This record gives sequence, C-alpha cells and structure tokens, in this order.
Amino acid sequence: MRLKNKTVIVTGAGSGLGKATALLSAEEGANLILADIRAESLESVKAEIAGVGGRAATVSVDVCRSDSIDDMLGKAVADFGQVDCLVNCAGVFSSIPLLEMREEDFDRMTDINLKGSFLCSQAFIRQLIAQDSGGAIVFLSSISGYIGFANSAHYCASKGAIRQLSKAIALEFGPRRIRSNVVAPGTIETPMNQWIIDDPDRYAQSVSSIPLGRLGKASEIASAIVFLLSEDASFCTGSELVVDGGQITHC
Ligand SMILES: NC(=O)c1ccc[n+]([C@@H]2O[C@H](COP(=O)([O-])OP(=O)(O)OC[C@H]3O[C@@H](n4cnc5c(N)ncnc54)[C@H](O)[C@@H]3O)[C@@H](O)[C@H]2O)c1
Repeated sequence: MRLKNKTVIVTGAGSGLGKATALLSAEEGANLILADIRAESLESVKAEIAGVGGRAATVSVDVCRSDSIDDMLGKAVADFGQVDCLVNCAGVFSSIPLLEMREEDFDRMTDINLKGSFLCSQAFIRQLIAQDSGGAIVFLSSISGYIGFANSAHYCASKGAIRQLSKAIALEFGPRRIRSNVVAPGTIETPMNQWIIDDPDRYAQSVSSIPLGRLGKASEIASAIVFLLSEDASFCTGSELVVDGGQITHC
C-alpha cells in the first residue's frame, strides 16, 4: 500500500478525476478528506471508500475562499491528526469565443482553477510547516496548458499558469521536503467533457486527434496522481506528467 496512513486532501472529490483519485488513494491505504463545493456529491464517494474498508471525511469547500479552506484544513487535522498530501482537483471549464468572453468569465476561471489551487496549497504548506513534516502536492494542469485551444483562452491561461505555480513551490519548499508536481491530462471521460461525449462529431474529432484512438479514463489520471503523491516519486519535484494518449506529441 503506497499511501498507508497518509492523510490525503482531494479538492473536487465529488466528481471525475478527484473522485477517481480519492478512491485509488483509499485503496492504497490513505485516509481521505473529500472536499467539494457540491458537498452532497461526496456522500456516495465516502460510501464507496467505506465499502473497501477505507476512512474518509467529507467537507464542503469553496477553493476561492480562504476561510473555507482554513475550515477544510482544520477538519483534516481534527479528524486524522495531520496532513500529508494535497490534490488540487477542483476546477471548471467553459467554451467561450474570446470576443464574447466577459471579464467575469475570465475572473471565475482564474479564481477557481488558479487562485483556488494557490490558496489551498498555501494553507496546506502552512500546516506542513506547523507539523514540521514534508508532504506532496499534485496540481491539475491540462494539455491546454501546453498548446492553445480556440474558445478557451481563459482555461488555457489558467492551466499554463498552474505549471509555473507548481515549479515555484517546488523550488521554494524543496528544502523542507515538500514536493510539488503537475499532472496534465488530455481528454478524459468525465462530466467536464460530457459536451464532447454527447456530440458524435466532436467526439469523433477528439478521438482522431489522439494517437491511442480513445479518450482517457479517470482511473488512468488517478494512477499518475497517486504515483506522484507516493514514495515511488520520492525524487520527483517540479516535474510534469502529461497523460494524454499522445494527443500533443504531434503539436
Ligand atoms: N476531464 C478532463 O479531460 C481534464 C483534462 C485536463 C485537465 N482537467 C482538470 O482536472 C480537474 C478535474 O476535472 P474533472 O474532469 O474531474 O471535472 P469535473 O467537472 O468532473 O469535477 C470538478 C469538480 O470540481 C468541483 N468544483 C468546482 N468549483 C469548485 C470550487 N470553487 N470549490 C470546490 N470545488 C469546486 C465541482 O463541484 C466538481 O465536483 C480540473 O482542474 C480540470 O480542469 C480535466
């Protein structure tokens, strides 16, 4: 068990990649803090974890609000004594042509995807320092952080910036044994991509751009995240793992 007795906080744990990561972490022996703005979505994840003999607590969090994040960290410490790992999975996507993009669209995207990951990481690192322990953070970038996509300038900008945020943290906190890494998924079968899955033309276009000829599964991203959280990745920090079926190899 690669995460035995580790406390892992997963934001966005109510759906998609966060949910898959929480389930795999529990199978690897971790205690889970399941955090999401849609707290009701967490109960079934908690039940699934209990079903495999794991321990999980749920907490409602808005990653854009410091007070809410402080409550999340407080619950983690109260329930499990300390924290060890953070997965910044909470995120949103929207497709909007640039000239129709309102300032509030851009702000919402960067608030949740970028500032939210920053605020959670800052609070988590403060707790690690108080505990005098090392730890591991995984950020969710995207292939949109490497190449451009039309109608999603705000999303691409947020995902590119996440890569730099992770690297700066890796540099600043490496001496404290805090590792910071990125997973950059391609197109994965999660509710975020329902608009592609439900549209036969979009779906075919997506699949044709992926050398492995299919969309990825959430479990395939969870595997990469758990690897980076675990001691198997003990010498990885500031690194980036692109998990995209080869989608950006030809770009
Ligand atoms: N699915 C993909 O193909 C893909 C590809 C690249 C990157 N990503 C990234 O991976 C992450 C997870 O994506 P997903 O596919 O699981 O999406 P998803 O929509 O299935 O899940 C996202 C979760 O984040 C939660 N959330 C949204 N705003 C929040 C907030 N303010 N505070 C707390 N929780 C909030 C939602 O309630 C939801 O449960 C996102 O950052 C996304 O950008 C996904």
